[in-house]
Amino acid sequence: MKVTVGVTGGIAAYKAAELVRALQQQALDVHVVMTAAAQQFVSPLTFAGLTGHRVITGLWDSDGQVPNANSAIEHISEAQSTEALIVAPATADILARLAHGMADDFLTTMALATPAPLILAPAMNVQMWEHPATQANLETLRLRGATIVSPDSGYLACGMLGEGRLAKVEDLVRTILDVLHRRHDMASETVLVTAGGTREPVDPVRFIGNRSSGKMGYALAEAALYRGAHVILVSAPTRLDPPTGCEFVPVTTAEEMRQAVLKHLPRATLVMKAAAVADYRPRLRAEQKIKRTGPITIELEPTEDILAEIIKLRQPGTLVIGFAAETENPVEHARGKLSRKGVDAIVLNDVTRPHIGFDSDRNAVTFLTANAAQELPEMPKRLLADRILDEVQQLRRPRQIVAEMNAVSILAKR
Ligand code: CTP
Repeated sequence: MKVTVGVTGGIAAYKAAELVRALQQQALDVHVVMTAAAQQFVSPLTFAGLTGHRVITGLWDSDGQVPNANSAIEHISEAQSTEALIVAPATADILARLAHGMADDFLTTMALATPAPLILAPAMNVQMWEHPATQANLETLRLRGATIVSPDSGYLACGMLGEGRLAKVEDLVRTILDVLHRRHDMASETVLVTAGGTREPVDPVRFIGNRSSGKMGYALAEAALYRGAHVILVSAPTRLDPPTGCEFVPVTTAEEMRQAVLKHLPRATLVMKAAAVADYRPRLRAEQKIKRTGPITIELEPTEDILAEIIKLRQPGTLVIGFAAETENPVEHARGKLSRKGVDAIVLNDVTRPHIGFDSDRNAVTFLTANAAQELPEMPKRLLADRILDEVQQLRRPRQIVAEMNAVSILAKR
């Protein structure tokens, strides 16, 4: 499996050589791209010697030609053929350039062109690290799905003490292997995701809706696609673009969502019901716009519980994950829903927490199963989506096999 290490211009550039060796020991085919600044610190020859591959040092040869005569668009072929792009060390400068989508050298151009996951290992002076500009760039990159391996604390090359040292090579390798594993671990799944808030018309111009932005559901769809799943996204109206590659089924009302879900359910191996579905709809929809007169009463009737129907109709082996947005006694209510609805797990969202949840790019949830509760702390929704999918993957793994593996490793240690 091919991975690409991008080396940028910081003192820690020499540590990239150690990282390359450690990745090779994991049977990875490592290719290296260096920025111009990185070449001031370490010679490309070091990496060429270690990897046995030509090190890419720029978009152009010194005579102004594209470097590889066989491929006039080398950054594209490199970008398409790699399984991960790891930037280590990542300077404040490369974080800024990546956050802004610059394409002024090979590494930044490749980062824009690659569908592979981006892993960034920053290393810099503590004040540069703590600067709001650097932190804002990191947050932008995180929200786009990049994995950040935070620097360690300690004495820095500049003589200062603080955070900014490149993370330990073993921590980097572990993260890279986790990301590579996630890349294909859902290849056999067809994931049916519902997202957004349904709208129940009152008259031709008004509806009863809710505050759901759809961001969590879209993040789940994107994360599952990234992990190789086929994704069917049944979405109530949102302001979001559907993730590239998903089967997109737009709906408006709870009843339309119900019909779309039941139609696609037979293909699903995993259902994630992130949508905020109206529990009530107006019993009658006015044909014409309702004019202002005196007080009016709108009679509401309950909608069907889609989740309950899914549980009845699902194929054996299909996992069903419900979502619960609660405002009081969250765990107690969500536990009640878990057993009442018969789902495999509930993603609990305490929507009273300020600044996160509705319409925010960040959230914190609890992943509840019949006998466990996993707190997933506040983080960008795209990252949270991966953590939720990790929890779902755990449900798939037969517990017995895990127990047996533990027993074997205990025996092996003796
Ligand atoms: N849900 C559904 N169909 C509905 C209402 C909700 O499938 N008509 C699903 C949601 O997509 C979510 C889960 O049920 O995954 C829980 O939604 P929630 O509104 O929290 O639960 P309700 O059962 O409606 O309970 P309550 O409103 O009483 O909290």
